[in-house]
Amino acid sequence: MSTVTPFPAEVRPLLEVRQLSQVYHLNRQNLFGPRPTLKVLDTIDFAVRPGEAVGLVGESGSGKTTLTRMLTGVEKPREGQVLYDGVDVWLGGEAHRKLFRRSVQVVLQNPRSSLDPRMRVGTSLLEPLRSLRIEGDHAARVLEVLDQVGLDKNALERFPHEFSGGQLQRIAIARALMPGPKVLIADEPVSALDVSIQAQVLNLLKDLVKNLGLGLVFIAHDLSVVAYTTSRVSVMSAGKIVEVGKPLDLFNRPQADATKALVGAILSVESGLAGNALA
Ligand SMILES: Nc1ncnc2c1ncn2[C@@H]1O[C@H](COP(=O)(O)OP(=O)(O)OP(=O)(O)O)[C@@H](O)[C@H]1O
Ligand SMILES: [Mg+2]
Repeated sequence: MSTVTPFPAEVRPLLEVRQLSQVYHLNRQNLFGPRPTLKVLDTIDFAVRPGEAVGLVGESGSGKTTLTRMLTGVEKPREGQVLYDGVDVWLGGEAHRKLFRRSVQVVLQNPRSSLDPRMRVGTSLLEPLRSLRIEGDHAARVLEVLDQVGLDKNALERFPHEFSGGQLQRIAIARALMPGPKVLIADEPVSALDVSIQAQVLNLLKDLVKNLGLGLVFIAHDLSVVAYTTSRVSVMSAGKIVEVGKPLDLFNRPQADATKALVGAILSVESGLAGNALA
């Protein structure tokens, strides 16, 4: 198993959250009762550096996607800071916010829902440049990015339904790369894909970290997938980061209950498979 080389800690984070908390208001139980609140994120510290791949794991509902919404500036945190290149994205000026929006891009779980089925791939790839008002040679940029994700230029004239899930995820990654981001946030990027093609997409993400010096935030339920892709992993549970470590250390010496549960889930799947093989 090859892993991304750990990055020296002294390199300044590109994207960082400090003491971040978020609270959601839920529906009232009855008309005159108080409106219950849910602390979805609780004093989170998290950072990614250039050329570094970091993992975020945790059970369903632990707050991973909510943290992604903060890291991309879609939602403003109740408390704490989101910093891009050392500047608070909610306090910096409009020019910094524009740079931040362009520099942090997301890849979602299901490429079929992140690409417009009625749009040719070429048009979908150009769309982020239009919406972010990025100037330059767009045609050349499309070809450069297609090459980075290992797709042929014939893809440009085709529609999403003409592609397999793995190819579509490559297209979704290409779309995220179009504005020239410095950080890619991948929220469960392979969990909707056939197991046989998951490794190809994981290897592509690893290559992008290595070749382009991207920071990668890789989010998943599955600790083994995260271990293959990242050099440092944060474990979330009920809105808190309960443990941070190198993937192998988390496997071999999990400390927090949430980490033990994630490791246990992998082992029980494996022993279940072994049991089936014997049956
Ligand atoms: N807009 C919202 N209003 C109220 N509660 C919300 C809202 N969005 C998310 N939540 C709640 O916040 C918690 C965290 O949800 P989140 O989607 O971040 O978890 P997750 O770790 O991404 O889960 P999964 O692994 O299933 O994707 C959950 O309890 C969820 O029900
Ligand atoms: Mg989620």
